[in-house]
Amino acid sequence: MTDFAQPARRTVMCASAALGSVALLTACGDGHSEAQAPEASPVPSPTGEGQAVIALSEIEVGARATVQAKHSSGAEIPVLLFRPDEKTVLAYSSVCTHQGCVVTTKSTKEDFFCACHGSRFQPSDGTVTDGPAIAPLGRYATEIKDDQVVVFITES
Ligand code: FES
Repeated sequence: MTDFAQPARRTVMCASAALGSVALLTACGDGHSEAQAPEASPVPSPTGEGQAVIALSEIEVGARATVQAKHSSGAEIPVLLFRPDEKTVLAYSSVCTHQGCVVTTKSTKEDFFCACHGSRFQPSDGTVTDGPAIAPLGRYATEIKDDQVVVFITES
């Protein structure tokens, strides 16, 4: 009786391992995956003191840019900007939501790109368009004041 049970158990384990390998291969692939686009992070309300980071005339409609802003720790941090229309400039944290590398505008596409593992983010809302990151970029509130783009750096 035991002789019959063991092969059956072994067969089940091998089948499970084989299925697991297929799942792993499918999950791993080349490390890139089409993201399932979780919702964008909410835009926080402007709080605290805003910082003028760039003249509005220096970022054309449709353009992306990286600017430096002062964090509450006193450190200068890179902030990603995107101007979708005449009256709006969006700002994002440049900290990649995968493993924390710096996301930049240096990309072969019109997006934000993390060179560490290839994640891509949508400039219009910060959502992931290509993994391995799955969470959207953090956002900062912005205002346009006296022809300057003002960013409100909050902890994220
Ligand atoms: S840290 Fe950005 S893709 Fe891995």
